[in-house]
Amino acid sequence: MEIVICKTKEEASKLAADMITAAVKKNPKTVLGLATGSTPVPMYTEMAKAVKAKKVSYKDVKTWNLDEYVGLPGTHDQSYRYFMNKNLFEKIDIKISNTHVLNGMAKDPVKECEKYEAQIKKAGGIDIQVLGIGSDGHIAFNEPGTSLKSRTGVVYLTPSTIKDNARLFFKGKEDEVPTRALSMGVGTICEAKKIILLAFGKNKADAVKGMVEGGISQFCTASALQEHNDAWIFCDEESASKLKLRNYYAWRSATKLGL
Ligand code: F6R
Repeated sequence: MEIVICKTKEEASKLAADMITAAVKKNPKTVLGLATGSTPVPMYTEMAKAVKAKKVSYKDVKTWNLDEYVGLPGTHDQSYRYFMNKNLFEKIDIKISNTHVLNGMAKDPVKECEKYEAQIKKAGGIDIQVLGIGSDGHIAFNEPGTSLKSRTGVVYLTPSTIKDNARLFFKGKEDEVPTRALSMGVGTICEAKKIILLAFGKNKADAVKGMVEGGISQFCTASALQEHNDAWIFCDEESASKLKLRNYYAWRSATKLGL
């Protein structure tokens, strides 16, 4: 794991976006795994700026998103499909037919998830997977107690995730947050060739500590990334504040990135 620690989330988001821009320039057919939530928004803004400045094109890029709420159609303003269209896809030159988000309205959710896994496989696997982290250490919607080998499937959200998501979205109304989602599994995520995880703010400090310096455990599903050999964790100072070796990580990653 490489832990990049920046002063601000804007700085970290720019570095992460530059990594994606460089990868897409090198391989215009890059397959991206994408995340929703508040965390990746500044990075998506930077990615869109690079497209506007004609530094890169996403016309041959394909994307698969991590998750979607069960029961929300893609037209619902709190669905993850809607979020992606607004925060990224409409701002870059990607073909919408090349973007994939799990269908939360699928009649047969299990089949939907199997189909999703098969599509990713057919595309040659995910080259770069973007992740956020939940305050309980989840990646995608893989909550504590989920197998670290899990595949894409139906998952059940914890009260703390429902609370976090209501605070940031759903106008604060907890009873409107769906309790189930379709989510890529931890095992599915770990198969990506490269991982870029973003974590910002005090609220993520315990989760980051668990992910980086805790044992590998189902209790913090992000800790599975300790076994990934190309995982980049972009933090601001607040989310990195509980890391014992934070000065070492910051120096090592800055040196590797030539900063
Ligand atoms: C989103 C996702 C989640 C979020 C996590 C953090 O697609 O899979 O794991 O990344 O819940 O959410 P924010 O960024 O809103 O704090």
